[in-house]
Amino acid sequence: MLYRLARAGFFQLDAEKAHDLAIENFKRFTGTPLDLFYRQLLPNRPVECMGISFRNPVGLAAGLDKNGECIEAFDAMGFGFVEVGTVTPRPQSGNEKPRLFRLVEAEGIINRMGFNNRGVDNLVENVKKANFNCVLGINIGKNKDTPIEKGAEDYLICMEKVYQYAGYITVNISSPNTPGLRSLQYGEALDELLSELKLKQSELAEKHHKYVPLALKIAPDLSDEEITQICDSLIKNNMDGVIATNTTLDRSIVEGMKHASEVGGLSGRPVQQRSTEVVRLLHLKLKDQIPVIGVGGVDSYVAAKEKMMAGAELVQVYSGFIYHGPGLVRDIVKNL
Ligand SMILES: Cc1cc2nc3c(=O)[nH]c(=O)nc-3n(C[C@H](O)[C@H](O)[C@H](O)COP(=O)(O)O)c2cc1C
Repeated sequence: MLYRLARAGFFQLDAEKAHDLAIENFKRFTGTPLDLFYRQLLPNRPVECMGISFRNPVGLAAGLDKNGECIEAFDAMGFGFVEVGTVTPRPQSGNEKPRLFRLVEAEGIINRMGFNNRGVDNLVENVKKANFNCVLGINIGKNKDTPIEKGAEDYLICMEKVYQYAGYITVNISSPNTPGLRSLQYGEALDELLSELKLKQSELAEKHHKYVPLALKIAPDLSDEEITQICDSLIKNNMDGVIATNTTLDRSIVEGMKHASEVGGLSGRPVQQRSTEVVRLLHLKLKDQIPVIGVGGVDSYVAAKEKMMAGAELVQVYSGFIYHGPGLVRDIVKNL
């Protein structure tokens, strides 16, 4: 009810302004009695995944808290885990505005943010100051002006800096808004990237006496054969997890709707089915060797359950959270 009222106000604003205002408020309310607007005590639904214990399997997907500024607010909402980022080695401003659009009738979002973030050092400082109980995932990417052949260097820089503060690290090679990024999902480029990252992981595990799992985040716009190749590469390189999926370039479901032809990645209910299909395919190929984290259109307990029935061990939400608020986390967790 409370969220419905807040949403009515926020949806009057331009989508990015509403986002920035929400982040500002979360920051301001943290540690004050005003956090009662979103604080909720949820039942424990513990799960083990990637060798980590989660208090429940519902996480916040990457991109909402890119700089790790409101981890405590999302922790207070009861999320089992929060994924911050995508963060890049150097700060960057992202694409020109407007770059974020709501497709309200479809409960979808189109974004072409382009990894706007304050850089990895700023994120680490924010994480160091935060006090939270949920698992923290840190999602890393490359700067737009780093040539794609040198992309691995950016991931290695970020990995080195975030390693000791992360519960797990996500390697994002699936944003459609950084030119060339998705090319890292294929063939030798993927194999090389994953083997370099795994090597770095063992060095850092020794240095910090802590093993931090590495998950790969993939796009929904892949053929079955491409998914099979990714699975081979994940197994060969002993990756710890795979997150499916990022946003889609496909517009068939939203054709004709307002904003449907905006350039960028589409998320929310329109990507729900395809994401679940990718989860199913991954689970079929990976069996129980590598855990799958399902994301894309999770907007209810039923949608979360569908992802889990398809093989997801954990789920994440982004667009569903924008449309339904913290109550979505409560509904899923309570019903599990
Ligand atoms: C505005 C916006 C920004 C996003 N930024 C990122 C990002 O920086 N890194 C990333 O891995 N995914 C990003 N995503 C993708 C989400 O994490 C998620 O994979 C996708 O939206 C599908 O989930 P959903 O349908 O619940 O939104 C973003 C999504 C949106 C809507």
